[in-house]
Amino acid sequence: MSKALDGVRILDFTHVQSGPTCTQLLAWFGADVIKVERPGVGDITRGQLRDIPGVDSLYFTMLNHNKRSITIDSKHTKGKELLEELIRTCDVLVENFAPGALDRMGFTWERVQQLNPRMIMASVKGFGPGPYEECKVYENVAQCAGGAASTTGFDDGPPLVTGAQIGDSGTGLHLALGIVAALYQRNATGRGQRVLAAMQDGVLNLCRVKLRDQQRLAHGPLKEYPQYPFGEFGESVPRAGNASGGGQPGSILKCKGWESDPNAYIYFITQAPVWDKICKVIGKEEWITDPEYAKPEARLPHLVEIFATIEAWTMTKGKLEAMAILNEYDIPCGPILSMKEIAEEQSLRDTGTVVEIDHPTRGKYLSVGNPIKMSDSITEVTRSPLLGEHTDEILRDVLKFDEAKIAEFKNSGAMTPPTRVAAE
Ligand SMILES: CC(C)(COP(=O)(O)OP(=O)(O)OC[C@H]1O[C@@H](n2cnc3c(N)ncnc32)[C@H](O)[C@@H]1OP(=O)(O)O)[C@@H](O)C(=O)NCCC(=O)NCCS
Repeated sequence: MSKALDGVRILDFTHVQSGPTCTQLLAWFGADVIKVERPGVGDITRGQLRDIPGVDSLYFTMLNHNKRSITIDSKHTKGKELLEELIRTCDVLVENFAPGALDRMGFTWERVQQLNPRMIMASVKGFGPGPYEECKVYENVAQCAGGAASTTGFDDGPPLVTGAQIGDSGTGLHLALGIVAALYQRNATGRGQRVLAAMQDGVLNLCRVKLRDQQRLAHGPLKEYPQYPFGEFGESVPRAGNASGGGQPGSILKCKGWESDPNAYIYFITQAPVWDKICKVIGKEEWITDPEYAKPEARLPHLVEIFATIEAWTMTKGKLEAMAILNEYDIPCGPILSMKEIAEEQSLRDTGTVVEIDHPTRGKYLSVGNPIKMSDSITEVTRSPLLGEHTDEILRDVLKFDEAKIAEFKNSGAMTPPTRVAAE
C-alpha cells in the first residue's frame, strides 16, 4: 500500500527528542528517513536512561522507529563530502543542533541551497531570533520560557512542569507540519525553504489560552479560576490548579480506593448544559431549582462545597464505574489512567496507538505508535535501527556508490569512531 510521503527522502541530522519526534512522524507517513549519527557514539539517547546494559535505550528506540542509520563524522573531510552527496539527493534536511553547530560543520543555508536549491532545511532551536537565540534548550527550559510552567500548578505552590513533553515532542510536531507545508509549496515554486520551529514558540502556541486569559485579566477577575471570588489576582495569569481552562468549572475528585491507589481519581466537569443531570446523579435534585445553585454564575461562590458534595458521591464508586454512570448521562469526565493501565488497554492496541515491537538486542517492548490515523496511508511501525546498520545499503542504493567507492569512504576514517578520525 502506498504512503502519503512515499518518494520523500529526509536527511535526518536530529538527536535527543524534539527532532527525532518530527522525523519519526515523517517516516510513519512513508518518508525514507536517513539518520546520520556520529561514528561509535550515535544519538546520545542510545545510551541514556538505559534499562538493559549494552542495549539501545527505550529513550532512543521509542523515538527512532522506521528510520535507517548511517554513521558519518561530519567534521571529517570525507564525511563532509558524503554529506554533500546526501544533501544533493534528499528533499529535506532536519536538524536540532545547538545554534551555530551546522554552520560550523560548513552547512550554512547558503551552502545547502547551492548544493540543492530544492532542499527544505528544517530546524528546531530553543528560541527564535532575539536575545536568547544562542541558548541551548531542553524540555523543561522550554516549558518555563514558553509560559507553561508559570500557569501550571496550584496557586499556593511553585510553578510546575508537566510530564507531557510539550517542549520537545510538541515542537517536533510543529516542525513536521512546517516541513509538509514546505513540501507542498515546493510543488508550485520548485524551491526549497528554511523552516524553523523554536521551542519557546511551540510551547507558547500550546499555551495560547493562557495568553488569552492574560488579556482578559485587564478587564476583571477570571471568574472560572479558583481564585474567584475569594482569592486575589495579581498582574499575571495565576496558576489554576485543576480548574478547567475551557470556562467550565472542573476538579479532580477522589474515587473509591484513593487511600491506596494514587490514580483512583476522576476529572469532573460541572458543565452548565448537564447541570440538572449532575444534580440527579449525586442526589441533590434541590440544586436544580435553588437560585443559589441553578445558574453557572450563582454557583461560582459555592464551587468548593459543590465539588465536595460531588466527591462524596465519586468516593463511593471506582473511577471506571463512575465514568460508566456519568457517560450514561453525557456528563463529561476523565478517569485518571495510569501508564500501567494505558499500556494494558486493549482498545489502544487495536488501533495501533500502543504497539509491541521486536528488537534484535532488546527483545519485545511497547511503544506509542502513530497517533494520527489516515485511511489511505496506514502506519506500520518498525524497530529503530542499530547504530550504522544501513551504512553500506545507503552508500550503495541511495548514493549509487560501487564497491570500490564504498571501500574508499569506509577506509577514510569518516565512518569510524573518533580515535581514527583524520585531522583536517
Ligand atoms: C539539545 C542540545 C542542548 C544539545 O547540545 P550539545 O550536547 O552541545 O549538542 P550539539 O547539538 O551542540 O552538538 C555538539 C557537537 O557535536 C557535533 N556533532 C554532531 N553530530 C556529529 C557527527 N555526526 N559527527 C561529528 N560531530 C558531530 C556538532 O557538530 C557539535 O560540535 P561543535 O559544538 O564543535 O560545533 C542542543 O543540540 C540544542 O540546543 N538543540 C536545539 C534545541 C533542541 O532541540 N533541544 C531539545 C533537545 S530534546
